[in-house]
Amino acid sequence: MYSHSALCERERPTTKRLKVFCSTQAPTVCIHIAKARKAEELRKIPNINNNNKRNPKNKMMKFCASFCLLTVLAAINMAQADNLQCNIKSNAAFRGWPDMKEPCIRSMREQIQKEINASMQYLAMAAYFSNDTVNRPGFAEHFFKAAKEEREHGAKLIEYLSMRGELTHTVKDLIKVSPVKVKNWTGLSALEDAFKLETEVTKSIRDLIKTCEGNSKKADDNDYHLVDYLTGVYLEEQLTGQRELAGKITTLEKMMSSQGELGEFLFDKNM
Ligand SMILES: [Fe+2]
Repeated sequence: MYSHSALCERERPTTKRLKVFCSTQAPTVCIHIAKARKAEELRKIPNINNNNKRNPKNKMMKFCASFCLLTVLAAINMAQADNLQCNIKSNAAFRGWPDMKEPCIRSMREQIQKEINASMQYLAMAAYFSNDTVNRPGFAEHFFKAAKEEREHGAKLIEYLSMRGELTHTVKDLIKVSPVKVKNWTGLSALEDAFKLETEVTKSIRDLIKTCEGNSKKADDNDYHLVDYLTGVYLEEQLTGQRELAGKITTLEKMMSSQGELGEFLFDKNM
């Protein structure tokens, strides 16, 4: 049997060995000694981690390092953001060449609208004379043809604007259909309404020509090419159609004055 003091001084075992030994010999005293020795050893060994954590200088250095790192990362991100900006040039078409004046363009668009409306009006007349209760196939065919011609007149003006590079605005307000007028037409009243419509269109073309001639004091305002087209081709066709319509009205009036309803029937057969 060892004495307590002799055991602890002589053996100096490791903590594990000491615990085994003490568990059978003198547990209370030896554990106390072991704890005291361990505490003494810990005091002799400097605790680097604890010192670092508690040192204010280290904290400041860590803060400065983190701040610098964040600053560098932010600068890199900003530089990358500049590089990532979309610098693709817009795909806009070259617009340096169209030279039509705005009042002329506006009048052209209005004229297109009038031609389209005339086409719709003639289409309504054609439908009316196609009705089985009216049954005037000659008149119906005439107005179907007139509707097609007016639509083609509108298309020609659209193509002209496109050729001059001025069909750049939205077409939403270019092709608008106004309500058509429908009555219980006779052949004569239908031709008279058609003639009235044609004279309105003719006047509108003349106004368009005046607008596109511009101010006589400014030669640059005169759109010579368009004015030549409207005067030489467009108005020529309009006046020719107007003359044919006037002739039909005269013939029908003569036939009806002598034959009444039969005159309209015969006229319809020969249209
Ligand atoms: Fe026309």
